[in-house]
Amino acid sequence: MMAASAPGKLILFGEHAVVFGEPALSTAINLRAEVYARPHTEWLVDGASLEESRFRYVKAAVAKAKPDGPLWIEIRSMVPSGAGLGSSAAVTVATLGALHGREGSIEALAIAREAFEVEHEVQGRASPIDTSTASAGGGILVLRQPRDGLLWSIERDKRKWFVHRTALPPLDLVIGNTGISAATGPLVAKVKDRVDRDPRAAEAVRQIGEITLDGVRALQRKDLVAAGKLMDRNHTILTDLGVGHPSLDRLVEAARPSSYGAKLTGAGGGGSIVALTDRPSVTAEAIRAAGGKAFIVQSDSLGVAKLG
Ligand code: MEV
Repeated sequence: MMAASAPGKLILFGEHAVVFGEPALSTAINLRAEVYARPHTEWLVDGASLEESRFRYVKAAVAKAKPDGPLWIEIRSMVPSGAGLGSSAAVTVATLGALHGREGSIEALAIAREAFEVEHEVQGRASPIDTSTASAGGGILVLRQPRDGLLWSIERDKRKWFVHRTALPPLDLVIGNTGISAATGPLVAKVKDRVDRDPRAAEAVRQIGEITLDGVRALQRKDLVAAGKLMDRNHTILTDLGVGHPSLDRLVEAARPSSYGAKLTGAGGGGSIVALTDRPSVTAEAIRAAGGKAFIVQSDSLGVAKLG
């Protein structure tokens, strides 16, 4: 039996803009996906065909890892899917970890590269932030240039992302899930279309990059008031870019009175918000009262890891 796990992620600043090469900040969270694989007479995932469209990330990961024979793969994930929390990246990375783990130790860089290719193929477009966070764990800062803390760089179509390890102070983060599942690919395509047609959208993407860098500095000097305000601005710009949703606004408004700031996280269009707060249970209660599902999460420093 081969098995590996990988964490989900929260993007604190910079989603969508990072696809265009702007900076973004994320952290792995303590909600993980586990993938188990055992030789079998035919290819199965959770007892169903690998060809089912819900397993397209697993199928693409299998095509990259090229295992010898058919496998029965089982996925156990705490990361809700379509919720902006990196469930497809966590499952892709854990699948690659399980399949490569058979050959010995798991190499996070090799897995991060393959997992990025998988996401790019399945979604049509992607940045490496979700897959690198699931591979490396901890706080991840993606930049246009290399700096101290560089983990690796990943390039595609003349764009190059430098993926860094970044130290974040311990943060109380609350996720508010709208329960509306939204696929990432069409949202990423929608933003690209806007940026291609409207210079104001291109300017919005650039502004998100600046907010991200200001946000990183604010978090590093533990200025949560400033970081929260930047999260609020990031939410407004993402909504103007067309990836908001009334239920995201409702949860953001519910979370803000007890938070430093709140914004949609991940691809948007539904999915989740993240609130930065020092009263996590009050914020979680407010999100629930507004009709969302709330979970209090912590950063997880563990990236892809062999199980057993
Ligand atoms: C999705 O979690 C993050 C996006 O920026 C897409 C990507 O970076 O691949 C929306």
